[in-house]
Amino acid sequence: MTAAVHTRWPGILEAYRRFLPITDHTPPLSLCEGNTPLVAAPGLSREIGASVWLKLEGCNPTGSFKDRGMVLAVAKALEEGSQTVICASTGNTSASAAAYAARAGMRAVILIPDGYVALGKLAQARMYGAEILAVRGNFDEALALVREVAQRLPVTVVNSINPYRLEGQQTAAFEVCDALGDAPDMVCIPVGNAGNISAWWRGFVRYHEAGKIRRTPRMFGFEAEGAAAIVRGEPIAKPETFATAIRIGNPASWTLAVEAVESSGGAMDAVTDDEIAEAYLRVAREGVFCEPASAASVAGLLKLARSGRVPPGATVVCVLTGNGLKDPDSAIRLGQATPRVVDCNLAAVETALAGGDA
Ligand code: F0G
Repeated sequence: MTAAVHTRWPGILEAYRRFLPITDHTPPLSLCEGNTPLVAAPGLSREIGASVWLKLEGCNPTGSFKDRGMVLAVAKALEEGSQTVICASTGNTSASAAAYAARAGMRAVILIPDGYVALGKLAQARMYGAEILAVRGNFDEALALVREVAQRLPVTVVNSINPYRLEGQQTAAFEVCDALGDAPDMVCIPVGNAGNISAWWRGFVRYHEAGKIRRTPRMFGFEAEGAAAIVRGEPIAKPETFATAIRIGNPASWTLAVEAVESSGGAMDAVTDDEIAEAYLRVAREGVFCEPASAASVAGLLKLARSGRVPPGATVVCVLTGNGLKDPDSAIRLGQATPRVVDCNLAAVETALAGGDA
């Protein structure tokens, strides 16, 4: 039997229309987001004694999972007659908002914490034509400011406090179930503002209610230790981690995230920057380049495995939320991703490969 080589993917609004709040008036916005690869991780699977899968959300059009929620939030903003979207962001939300606003012919205003956004993300937002304000404050302060601005000006907030964002982000859970034929046993997700873990859980519950899956997975969320507000049980005024995407001290979807881990039988835990860095390099050895924050999911899985909390043979999905190319500085710093320079001749190459001075 010959499998179809390629069928056109229409984007999540069309693909999952029956599960999304779409009306006849919702514009058919799409950059073909979704349908991201679910890649087996044989090395990690062997090491842990489980069946480990990586959901490559960095393969979305702007290189992160944010596109799933953003396409719906921007389409609904357009449907409601809004002309401007606004968000606070550690980088990925702003890149995504800028792209979909450009596509929809809307204005995008983004507030980012000055000095704490990875280079690629800044470049993206700029290229898509967003108006960028780098504020002297962290993400939590920028988000508070966005809420204030939205009280006074005619703008649509497209942070995950916009309910359409989480609705759209559920589709990643749908895809995993569609690919595996049922829900996995466990899902490991990095947690920053806590929207994504809440959205995934909602997706599994929705699919279960619709009879698409027989069970729901246990949800495990991982915050960076220096920004682990939920784990500690109190907001952190000055969150710190090199994984800038999740450098958040007062998550907006805190309650929903706690509900997700509790009702699924999972847990919320913290991983150190060292553990994140180790997982970031480890994932690259599987041939997958994710950004540091994304590696928190794998760092968390390794931590669970070390404490004997991964049942043998369990099916585990680690969500790799963003593309490694967004943050070249981290790769250069941690992965020594700078080349060795040699003379352009055979002798120099042979010497270099033999371990000598080139
Ligand atoms: N991973 C990446 C790569 C992210 O960019 C984010 C959040 C998360 C994980 C955490 O997801 O907030 O739903 O818990 N980035 C937001 C932003 C805050 O502004 O791009 P969450």
